[in-house]
Amino acid sequence: SIPVVTLDGPTASGKGTVAARVAATLGYHLLDSGALYRLTALSATRAGVPSDAVDALASLAAGLDVRFGDDTIEMGGEDVSRAIREEAIGLFASAIAVHQPVRDALVARQHGFRRAPGLVADGRDMGSVIFPDAPVKVFLTASVEARAARRYKQLKEKGFSANIQDLSEALRERDARDTARAAAPLVAPQGAHRLDTSEMMVDQAVESVLGWCRD
Ligand code: CDP
Repeated sequence: SIPVVTLDGPTASGKGTVAARVAATLGYHLLDSGALYRLTALSATRAGVPSDAVDALASLAAGLDVRFGDDTIEMGGEDVSRAIREEAIGLFASAIAVHQPVRDALVARQHGFRRAPGLVADGRDMGSVIFPDAPVKVFLTASVEARAARRYKQLKEKGFSANIQDLSEALRERDARDTARAAAPLVAPQGAHRLDTSEMMVDQAVESVLGWCRD
């Protein structure tokens, strides 16, 4: 079967960057599953659908008209790659990701990314729920301080305003909700390699993951 490398972990643990680099090195496809939750959150925000309207949210998720390009994400033909990175959208994404019907609506779309020669999948439940048979599973962690600093830098680079204090609080809030929820809670999957990236450069993290892929 087609190999999958899963990278799961909390907000701003470095998953996205590491996943993109590993995928590029191996020539694999990339699934940014968080983007699907963010896209659902963005369409809900625009349509005025509140975070507890489970059925409406699930049908928005099921009907997402999205195209993933190399550097862009288009929804309904509009480039939304910047809009979905706003912190408010991340928070809203975590609020709607607690609903099992919303998660169910995104499963088939995520499975569709598994194409030859292989896939690197980044998220919260890639190794535990979506690709439980993945031969290589990684769980990334990092201290709240390291993650807040990383997210601050990312947001500034995109031209968003940001403040470390507020970001740390938002990270804690999102982590608490992602870990405590009943539907696909954030956990290290069975058999996952653990990687603490607090003090680690991206290159080192990428090398560790590639090493596990070669084993
Ligand atoms: O980039 P960051 O880690 O901040 O967030 P993300 O990966 O874009 O995901 C945004 C939110 O979507 C998370 O806080 C989760 O609540 C949710 N999510 C999820 O529930 N399951 C996934 N596989 C990916 C994201």
